[in-house]
Formats: sequence, structure tokens, C-alpha cells
Amino acid sequence: MSRRPRRLRRTDAIRSLVRETRLHVQDLIYPMFIVEGEGIRREIPSLPDVCQFSPDMLEEEIREICSLGLRHVLLFGAPHASRKDEAGTPAFSEYGVVQQAVREIKKIAPDICVTTDVCMCGYTNHGHCGLLDEQGCVDNDLTLGHLAAIALSHAQAGADIIAPSDMMDGRVARIRDALDSGGYDHIPIMVYSAKYASSFYGPFRHAANSAPQTGDRKGYQMDFANANEALIECALDVQEGADILMVKPAMAYLDIISRVKQHCGLPLAAYSVSGEYAMLKSAIQHGILSEAAVYETIIAIKRAGADIIITYFAKDLAKMLRACDQ
Ligand code: PBG
Repeated sequence: MSRRPRRLRRTDAIRSLVRETRLHVQDLIYPMFIVEGEGIRREIPSLPDVCQFSPDMLEEEIREICSLGLRHVLLFGAPHASRKDEAGTPAFSEYGVVQQAVREIKKIAPDICVTTDVCMCGYTNHGHCGLLDEQGCVDNDLTLGHLAAIALSHAQAGADIIAPSDMMDGRVARIRDALDSGGYDHIPIMVYSAKYASSFYGPFRHAANSAPQTGDRKGYQMDFANANEALIECALDVQEGADILMVKPAMAYLDIISRVKQHCGLPLAAYSVSGEYAMLKSAIQHGILSEAAVYETIIAIKRAGADIIITYFAKDLAKMLRACDQ
């Protein structure tokens, strides 16, 4: 037999020589939940080993993140329920939870790159990602100004990358405009371009207290049966000035990651969401899967075409990468 693929699988050294996909700690972004209050470091029951922090309690966690070699965090804010209103006002306050957390993190570790999620669902009393019209539908164009104001307030607090996750049409152009006119033309936008209406966000909505009070998000997030539409969403975002595109969720959407990577030249992020984490974590905790399943999953996401991976396993992966030479 002249062709024996097994020749290249014989030793670990040979396997690693011909390995096509490698994960680096720099590829990873760690999502964090910032809650209103003081002295809070609270584990999230639906996301074991992931905690909510009040802005004053970030130091230890940020130091750990730095010591693991991670360079990126993605912040989500969860203000008190009593403060939420129709218009999601606490989202763009200078003293909002995310704005405070950005300033704290920059004090603790100026080199940590802070990305902030821009959306309204965690700040509105109805739990939708935008402003509602009289019929109770999210009013796309009315929402854009609010999103731009939130993005600008994050940049003013010191955010390094702005990540809109709302799925309104035209948000990238509007946010780009607001950032540019505010003197932040150097701040990139990493846009949730192909974000599907997914059941895999369940644990996140507990953590961020952001579930819609009525209805669902199918009127603005994408139908999970559609792939071509992802390319349209991405093309629009490129046209509007996005710097990094994102596909979300990741695990069940590897085809989308692969197609977007082939069609669009921009760096591509994939968000391995809360349900993916909870599912794997639970299987590991019950002894059904080994921790190696996490690494395999994240490599698969990278192999599909993602350059950047947002995952609640970022700290575990950083430890694994350190321990095993790929
Ligand atoms: C806000 C937002 C959500 C997630 C990220 N940003 C929830 C949603 O759209 O309902 C989900 C992330 C995760 O599940 O880890 N719109």
C-alpha cells in the first residue's frame, strides 16, 4: 500500500507535526456577568463555576484571568430589576454596571482587552432587545438611537471593542456613526451577525435576568433553519463597517461558521453559548464525558473557520493548554 494515512498517526510528535488546527489562549474570550450592588461574587446555578460579580469584586477574577494568559473578556450587565424600564435606561448611564466594570478592569489590568455586549434585553422591564411599539413588537428604527447611545457610553467608559447582540437591521452603521462622531473611530465593532433564535441561551437568561416577559425573539433573531440568510446578514454588516463578524451559537452551527468564513474576509468569532457550556459541564460533572470533550468541541469550532472563540470554558481551556502541549 503506497498510501497509509496511519503513518502520520504513529507517534505524538508526528501527529502534532501534521496537526492542522491549533488552539491558542489568545483565541479565547471569557464572558462575564456584572451585577448591580457591592460585595457580590455569586455562582450561577445554571452555569456551574461561572460567577456574577459586582464591579467592586472583580480584582481576584481579573488577576486569575491574567495569570492564565487570557487577554479578553466580554461583559454583560445585569442591573437591579427595580431599575429596569420600558426604554432600558440603565444601559447607557455613565454609572451603569458595565460602565463601572470597564473602569474597574482597566484599573486592575490595563492590558486586558474589554469587549462589551450592547443590547437592551438585560435593561428593559419587558426583556426584549429593543423598544416596543404599540403592538408590542420591537421597533427597529426607534431602537437604533438607543443602541448607539449604549455603545458610545461603553466606549466613553473605556471599552476596547463594542459587540452589538440585538439583531436590529442597520445597527452597525448607526453605532459606527455614533462612535466616529464621539471621537471613537478607533474602536472596533464585533457584531453578532448571524445570531439565531436559539434554545441554547436559556442558562444565560437566568444569569443576566434577561428573558422576554412575553413572546420570544423570533421577530429579530434568525430562524435556525436558515443558512443563506446568515450570508446576507454578514454581507450587510461588512457593508455597514463591521470589523469582526460573529456566528452564535457555535456547536450546532458549524456549517454556518464554515460558510461565513468562506464568503467573508473579516475575522470571524463564534460564540459557544451558555447552553453548550451547561450541557457539556453537566455531562462532565456526571462522569458521562471526560473534560477532553471540551477541547474537542472548541477545536471543532476553530476547524470550522472561527478565528476567535467566546466560551465560558476559557479559563479551563487556558489551564488545559498550559498542561498539554498540543
Ligand atoms: C443578549 C444576549 C444573549 C446572549 C448574548 N447576548 C441572550 C439572548 O439573545 O437572549 C446569549 C449568550 C449565551 O447564551 O451564552 N441579547
